[in-house]
Order: sequence, then C-alpha cells, then structure tokens
Amino acid sequence: MSELTFIETQFPIARLSAESYKERKANLGQTLTRLGKWWGRKPLVLVRACILGMLMPASADPKKDREIFLKLMTMDAEGLWRRRKAVIADRDLLGEASSFADEWADADEDTRDELRYTIWQSFSPEAKTRLEARRRFPLTREKFDVLPYEQKLKHCLRPEHVDGPNDLAWTEINAHLKATASSLSELVEQLGQKRFGHRPRVGDAFCGGGSIPFEAARIGCDAFGSDLNPVAALLTWASLNLTGGGREVQQRIRNAQEDAFAKADTQVTAWGIEHNEQGWRADAFLYCAEVKPAGCDYAIPLAPGWVVGEKLRAIGVLARDSSGHRVNVDIHNQAPDELWSTAKSGRTGTVRDSRVLDPFDSDRSWPIEALRGPEGLRRWEKSDLVPRSGDVFQERLYCIRWVRPDGSRVYLAPTDADLTREAKVLALLRQRLSEWWAKGFLPSAAMPTDGEKTEEPIRTRGWTHWHHLFTPRQLLLNGLLAELMSGDDKAVMAATMLAVGRLANWNSRLSRWHTGVVHDKGEDVFSNQALNTLFNFSCRPLLALKTSWFIFDSPSSMKVQPGKVEASDARSIAVNADLWITDPPYADAVNYHELADFFLAWDEKILPRVFPEWIPDARRALAVRGTGEDFKRSMVEVYSNLARHMPDAGLQMVQFTHQDPAVWADLGMILWAAGLRVTAAWTVATETPAGGIKKGNYVQGTVLLVLRKRLRPEDGFLDEVYPLVEDEVRRQIDSMRALDEGGEPNFGDTDYQLAAYAAALRVLTQYQTLDGQDVGHELFRARPANAGRGRRAVAAEKSRFEQVIERGIQIACDYLVPRGLEMVWQGLTADERLYLRALDVESRGERRQGVYQELARGFGVREVKPLLHADKANSTRVRTPGEFGRKDLEGDGFGGTKLRQLLFAVHTTATEEKPEAGMRFLKDELRDYWSDRQRLITILDWIANLGQVEAMSHWVADSQAARLLAGRLRSDHG
Ligand SMILES: C[S@@+](CC[C@H](N)C(=O)[O-])C[C@H]1O[C@@H](n2cnc3c(N)ncnc32)[C@H](O)[C@@H]1O
Repeated sequence: MSELTFIETQFPIARLSAESYKERKANLGQTLTRLGKWWGRKPLVLVRACILGMLMPASADPKKDREIFLKLMTMDAEGLWRRRKAVIADRDLLGEASSFADEWADADEDTRDELRYTIWQSFSPEAKTRLEARRRFPLTREKFDVLPYEQKLKHCLRPEHVDGPNDLAWTEINAHLKATASSLSELVEQLGQKRFGHRPRVGDAFCGGGSIPFEAARIGCDAFGSDLNPVAALLTWASLNLTGGGREVQQRIRNAQEDAFAKADTQVTAWGIEHNEQGWRADAFLYCAEVKPAGCDYAIPLAPGWVVGEKLRAIGVLARDSSGHRVNVDIHNQAPDELWSTAKSGRTGTVRDSRVLDPFDSDRSWPIEALRGPEGLRRWEKSDLVPRSGDVFQERLYCIRWVRPDGSRVYLAPTDADLTREAKVLALLRQRLSEWWAKGFLPSAAMPTDGEKTEEPIRTRGWTHWHHLFTPRQLLLNGLLAELMSGDDKAVMAATMLAVGRLANWNSRLSRWHTGVVHDKGEDVFSNQALNTLFNFSCRPLLALKTSWFIFDSPSSMKVQPGKVEASDARSIAVNADLWITDPPYADAVNYHELADFFLAWDEKILPRVFPEWIPDARRALAVRGTGEDFKRSMVEVYSNLARHMPDAGLQMVQFTHQDPAVWADLGMILWAAGLRVTAAWTVATETPAGGIKKGNYVQGTVLLVLRKRLRPEDGFLDEVYPLVEDEVRRQIDSMRALDEGGEPNFGDTDYQLAAYAAALRVLTQYQTLDGQDVGHELFRARPANAGRGRRAVAAEKSRFEQVIERGIQIACDYLVPRGLEMVWQGLTADERLYLRALDVESRGERRQGVYQELARGFGVREVKPLLHADKANSTRVRTPGEFGRKDLEGDGFGGTKLRQLLFAVHTTATEEKPEAGMRFLKDELRDYWSDRQRLITILDWIANLGQVEAMSHWVADSQAARLLAGRLRSDHG
C-alpha cells in the first residue's frame, strides 16, 4: 500500500470552516463569482486544503504534520500575520464623505459594512488614492496573536490573496517534506513527482462553477474539469483561461467591454430612451403587474407593499382618477411620517396570501389562482413581448428613479413622455428582433413545459419562451451590448456570453426590487434556486448594469497552469487523473439543468461557434439527480469510470453537503460498489459561520470522503469484521481526541459520528463480499416498500453491510463518554446514556434535530422525542429537570431509570430551594440508594457544572439545585 496522506490521518476542520465561511461571506468579492452564477460553488480555500492534504504525505509525527500543513495554507500564526489586512479607518473614510454622516450614525454594524462599500464606491479616483495611502493595520502583533482564530480572520486577507508562506516557513516545510520549493506550485510539482512520477493531475467530473479545477490549476496541478452542462463548462473554462489567463487576456476583454459599453451609451442616449426632457437620466425603472378582477371597475396594480425607496422615504399611494376607472400610483418622496409608516407596515399592499386586495375596499379580495381561470392563462406566443390587451395580467411602469444633474436622486411616477419612450423601446426592439434572434443576441428558445422550475413562469404568467422573462427594455439593452461585442476572439466571445448571462441574472422580470437603508436596488434572479415570478420588479437602465457587465474590474496578472475542460457526461470521461475531486449533485435539490437553461438560452448561437466540441444542450436526461434507484445506478457508473481512470496510487475525494447523516451511509455504499474504499471522512462547515456553531444556528457542513481504489478485493465474514470495525472506530476516535486535547477544539459531535461511519467504512470497503454477498447486489436489492432508511428500517430489513455500519456508530456512541462521567458510564442504561450524551452535545451548542436523532440511533433507543424540549429543526435541546416536572416518572424507557428519578430530585430541590425533599425522594425511590450514592453524586456534580456553560443558561437554576443536592448527599451518613 502506498503511504498515507495527511488528509487520511487528520484535517484542521475548525480553522477551515472559519476560512470557508469568510470566503463565502465575501459574496461578489469571491474570485470566481464575477464570472457568473452557479449553484453550490465550493470555497476555493477548501479546495486548496483538500488538494494539499491529498498530496502531502503523513509522517510518524502528526503534530508536526499539522504544523506544516497550516504553514502551507498560511493558517498558522505567522501565516495569519502575513495575511493581515491594512484598512482605512472609519474616521478617515467619513472624513471624505460627510454626506453619509447621518446614515452612518443610524446604521448597525452589519449595515455599516455595506455602507463602507457604498461610501468607497462614491469616491473619485483622487479621493481613493488619497485614502489608500492612509491604510494601516489597527493591531499590534501582541494584540493580534491573542485573538481567537475567527476574530483574527476579520483582520486578514484570504490565503489566496498572499503569495503563500514566507521564506522561513518554506525552510521548515522543505525540511519536513524533503523538498526544495519556494512556492506552492513548486512544492505541488515535487510532491506529484514523488507520488506519481509527474506533476499531479487533478480532475473534477462534476465541475459546475469550476472551483476545483481552478484552484488545482492555480496551485500548479494539471487540471481537468468536466460537467454535463455547457454553461458550467463555460464557467470552468473561463476560470482557467480568463480569470487565470493573465493580464493580457483580461485587458483585451476589458477593452472590448469598455468599447461596447461606451458605444451602447452613445446609442441609448441618441435613442433618447433613458433621458427625460430636462436631461435627467433614469437609474431604475419599476414595473408591476396589474389585474382587473371580475366585478371591479378598475385594474389594480399589484405589489405586496408600496415602499419604493427607503433612503428617500419614497412610497407609492394608490388613488383612483376622476373617471374612477383607472388607479394611479402617486409617488411621494420624503413621505410624511403617517404615510411612511402605513406604507412600511405593508398594509397598503395589494397582494397578500395569494389574494389580490382591493385597495379601496378592505372587504374585497380575490384569490389569484381563480383569476387565472379554469383553463389557465393564455400562453404567450413567441412574438409576444408585452401582455396583449385581453390578458389577465397586464404590466405597467409605475415609477422611475431619476438622477438629476447635481447627482441627487428622485422617484417619480411616469409621465406621458415617459410612456412614449416606453413605446419607442418596444418599437426599437421589434425592428431588431428577427435579426437579433437569427444572430443569437437574444434568446428564442421555448422553456421546457414539463420542468419543475419552468412550470412556474408558464403557469403563473403564461410565459412560454425564455425571452418572455425580460421586458422590452431589458431585451433591447442586452441585445445591443451583445451585438456591440461581436468579433472572432475566443476569449472575448466567451466573456460576452458570461457578461450577457450576468445581465440576464440582474435584469429580468424576475429581478426583485429591494429597498434598504443603504440603497434600493434590483436583486438577481437567482437569489434562490427557482424561477419565481414577481408582482413588481426592477429593470436596470444601462448605467446601472455596469457592475454586471464588466467581468474584470482591473486586469490581474494571475496565471494558472493551463487546464482542459469538457462538457461531458461523467460516465463517459476518458481522461486520467491522479486525484479525482468531485462534488456530485448528491441529494441536493438544485435542478441544475433547468436553471442553467436560463443562461444557455442566451448562448444558443454563440456557444457552438466558440466551443464546437461541446453539445449546446443541458441534456437533462443524463443529469444525475435525486436519490432513487436510477440515481444510485448512475453514481456507481460514474465512480466506477473515475476509478478506472486513476492510477493505483491515486486518490479520490467526494464532497457533498447534506444535513442528514443517514444519507452518508448510502453514499458510502455507492462508492464501495464502485470499487473504491474509504480511507477518511471529514465535515467542514462551509455554509455558515464556524462561530455560529456555538450559537447553534448553523445549517450545513460539507462532508469530504477520501477514497482509494480497492486493489485486492477480499471476501469478508461478519464475525471477523465486527471486531475489526470496533478497533478501527476506537482508534479513530482516540486519534481525534488526541488532536482535540487542549487548545481550540477541532471536532464537534457530528465529526465524531461521521468519523465512526468512516472508520466502519474503512474496514468494510476493503472487502468485495461479506458472507458471500456482493456489495453491488446489496445496494440494489429490493427493499420492502415501507422500510425507509436508517431509524425506520427494522434490523431484519437492513443489509448486513448497513448493520456493520450501524454497529460502528454504536461503538462510537458508547466510546464517547462525556468528560467527568467516565466512572459511572458502564453502569448506565442506554436511555440514561442517551440523555447525558445529548446534554453534553447540547452544551457545545448543537441545536440540530437530526444530530439528536442520530444519537438515539447510535444508542439503539427508538424515540428521542420524549427527551427533547423543542424539536424544531434548528432549535432542538434536551428537557431540563424543571421541564420534565412530575411527568413520566416511570415506565420502560427513560421514565423508569434512576437518572430520571435523580432529575426529579433536582427539580424538587430547585422548587423548594433546599435539598431535603429531593434527598428523601431518592432514598424512598431507589432501593440501592446507599450503593448508588457515589454514582449519583458524580452525575449531580456533572450537572452542577452545566449551568456555567455559555450555551446552557437555561440550566442555571437546575445546576445550582444539583450542586446543593450533591452536597447534601455527600454529607448524608444515614
Ligand atoms: C454540486 S454541482 C458542482 C459544483 C462545483 N463543485 C462548484 O464548485 O461549482 C454538481 C454538478 O454536477 C453536474 N452534473 C449533473 N449530472 C451530470 C452528469 N451526468 N455528468 C456530469 N456532470 C453532471 C451539474 O450540472 C452540476 O454542475
């Protein structure tokens, strides 16, 4: 067997969680997000850590390995100091921007973050240069060094922003790894040579937005990325060749984009479609739908609320005109208090709970579904660009935000002249439509009628083609910019597709109008993973599209190792890689193929010209998705294929994000059936703050499974395998605990649980058969219809494979004894252990229901619910003695245990504020009181300490009572 790698022995998950969260929070500041939208991009810092962890050999000295690994990632003390970020003091910032003083004073810390950005954007280049010179680092090294890791990160750049470790660190890294590198790419090359005989090749067969190939190429690997979806392939290609393509290509793109933008500006100005008679320029157009329900004399403009702009206290007020047949939306800026607070309360909104409300008669409302009629809405024809006069849903421009020559803004209702300009926009578009369709500057394809996500626009508005998701004004600008970018330069053509995609995302009938204290603006379509239609929405004029249009603000010199990108089905990839790192669409609810069609529709003509070898279609039939039988089969095919395309010394990593640990086992089985064996597993919190773990509000972690080929398939027998699994689980937990000793904890409870799975899988996946049964056969064997997975499956219905995995978790559960309870643990029942372990887990901030259910499963207890106070998904905790009260003091389960009696005694002590009654109760109820006394005291002492833990403030009274009672028991001599 080839030597173990770092990631197969340990991984700094707490630090990486914090780093991943920092990267996520940067939103548009993330390196690849500027290229365009993709769902579930993996943080680059995580990818870097995974690749380095898979390349770096593990030595006999794990502490030293960890030290060196952290140095490589600039996540050690010295690296963090190297990453410290000089900032402009708020005082200096505001000194240059006195007009923001009031807003600053009113803003909370989160809003200030956004405000800093807005203020910065408002500065002239001269002011920016002046302030840049005043940047400084606010902390001394001494003060910085004592901060906890997450606090330090607030003052740091991301690892990708510095050029790796310093010289001193390189000396230590080289000494430990027997290398001679002075940069990450040199080290990567040397590690690859040692392990594989060449520069390492990293492949990703589900590359999506390109994080994995891009980061691999950036740190010097030969990268290969492929995705079934050509939009994803385009993003990945662009990450390698544009973001990582160096200054020259970026400058070419920037020039072409600037040129097109300037020409578009001249054209828009010449058309006169964004300027009014005074020469003011529009910087936002707001539209809403309008319906005229049967029996209503007027059409009602629709919006859930009529706040138009927070900053200018702008609102819309609905009023009937003199004829009574038309409703005007009067726009007020700086609305008086009363009007403002009424509008803010949402009471004037004309849609609520799927009903249209009559703004002038509070007793009248109509269900929206009924307005659509029994037959549904008229389906728009391809040539429709706006609703026809008989359509149920009309559309109207109800407000324009103008910028006056002095730079101030004002919201106004459209005038007749504005409506004439609207008509002109439509006419201009109609003149160009056929040509732009033919040349591919505008989408012309129909939306799939049977899609899960496309169903909504079709049903709720009658929109049938992708271009129906855009107003004429949006189509005119997008088409114009696309036309002005034409040429034959591959990089520029690719950039055009990306830029047009970004325009589409930020400027569509599905772009929500967002009002906020700092600014009011249009949102992107994909702020969620759907195609939700809106009653009112934003439309951006040209100048408001600038940030979406430009792919690069200022060209950077980053140049990555050239890579290869394909748009292939992962089952048919024929490229070899030493490390396959994949993030499959595993049980995630994202309909990549449908959502990406929103972008693909814009690329239909140009994509085949730029990438003739790619099929310009999402090929939905081939998309891997769901969790059922077909899904498992395709996953086994994919991973068998990847295993065939990797050397014996190669490694794979499968990343997936899922809350329910029960799905881990399924994935383990899939990979096992694909001829791979698990060598390690880690969870990194990628989606929410590591700090949030303590507050208990985090959502998801990304699980990383590390795998190798099963080279010598063996046949195993359950009675031999069980003890091996037990040993492996214990060994795994011991080694994690050793790393957890002292200092900051690396691992949480789910990490231990996952590690137990992994340890069980590590043993099991060495075998091809267990008691003569093949794993592939077990994976696909028919289960009784109601068997379900995990908890619901009764033992008899579980495969022997699953039984061994479950046994591994049980062993882990038993082995992970809360500190301080070691002496009493053996004598406790499963219910008692579950309660105390759950309490232990809770004290570390865990609030997810699934984790408590998994614990119950681990202890073999059928129901954890009776032990829990609230079982809402993210606020689960254990009942306190007070919350149990007198209830359930007997029975087969927890009610009948000594611990339950003890909790009641604690409760009695708390209510009576003295321990006598509690002690009496114990003496009366517990037959073995005297022999149990010491054990009871140990548990009481443990409970007494709980109240001091930050996350356990609700235990303070019961903990004090436990302390009192323990003291009383101690002094009880009969
Ligand atoms: C979770 S995403 C990958 C995200 C990616 N790691 C990133 O950082 O952006 C899963 C990807 O699998 C792709 N996919 C689905 N079925 C596929 C198949 N049969 N072959 C290749 N890719 C497929 C989807 O298009 C999607 O981009």
